[in-house]
Amino acid sequence: MTTALITGASSGIGSTFAEVLAERGHDLILVARSKDKLDALASSISAATGRMVTVITADLGQPSGGSALAQKVASLKLEVDLLVNNAGFGAAGAFAKQSATRDAEMIALNCAAVVDLAHAFLPAMLARNSGGILNVASVAGFQPMPYMAIYGATKSFVLSFTEGLWAELRGTGVKVTALCPGPVDTPFFEATGTPKLRKTVPKGLMMQPRPVVEAALAALEAGRPVCVPGAPNKALAQLPRLLPRAFMASMTAKIMGR
Ligand SMILES: NC(=O)c1ccc[n+]([C@@H]2O[C@H](COP(=O)([O-])OP(=O)(O)OC[C@H]3O[C@@H](n4cnc5c(N)ncnc54)[C@H](OP(=O)(O)O)[C@@H]3O)[C@@H](O)[C@H]2O)c1
Repeated sequence: MTTALITGASSGIGSTFAEVLAERGHDLILVARSKDKLDALASSISAATGRMVTVITADLGQPSGGSALAQKVASLKLEVDLLVNNAGFGAAGAFAKQSATRDAEMIALNCAAVVDLAHAFLPAMLARNSGGILNVASVAGFQPMPYMAIYGATKSFVLSFTEGLWAELRGTGVKVTALCPGPVDTPFFEATGTPKLRKTVPKGLMMQPRPVVEAALAALEAGRPVCVPGAPNKALAQLPRLLPRAFMASMTAKIMGR
């Protein structure tokens, strides 16, 4: 029996990770800010699967939010075998018009909490010589993202950090994978503050959360450093390797700035 801790479990990709992992026999620790949503999900998952589900409410966008969560987990005497660093949000629009406070919260949530939680749980995984860390990045992490510049940079951070850690952990019993989805049908778009962003997604590119989650778990199991679900996204992720970065940035600015 193993326990998976999932951040951002109240919605979208995170709640799907919770459902799939419980179906596969994991006990769960569900983390987000929305207690009612987490409680409702925990009840339906335990009723359907009989797994033990613990709910912890935490704001990981605050400085030291990740460390505070790790302390709470330790105080409950819970062990984490699989860490799913999934909580995150993006803000869309020109950088000069963005709120500095909101950007700082995004960096704390998308980057600092990911690092803090890896620091908190990796040593025990290494001591047990087993475990896994799934960090949710994005295809946005492969290239500069004008009009979502800070979001793109946070996802580049997650991708680079995860690939570095993957190489360090080779030969140990601990696996780590960066999940880099393209557009997924979740409330993510509305959370950017620019709901019309959803309309910029080309038809056929939007994926449902379940195949994304299943691809991520298969990649982790296979020991792959990066998972880009969906053939069109795999191709898009290769573009920045073939084209000059300045060209990629200018082309993306035209699409995003519409
Ligand atoms: N959907 C996409 O197109 C897409 C594409 C690529 C990557 N991603 C990434 O996938 C991950 C999951 O996003 P999603 O698409 O599932 O979006 P979502 O439905 O908006 O879910 C975001 C989750 O993060 C949690 N969260 C937000 N702020 C938080 C905070 N300060 N402290 C703790 N939890 C917080 C939210 O819960 P509460 O509000 O209850 O706290 C929610 O559970 C994110 O890292 C996102 O960047 C999404």
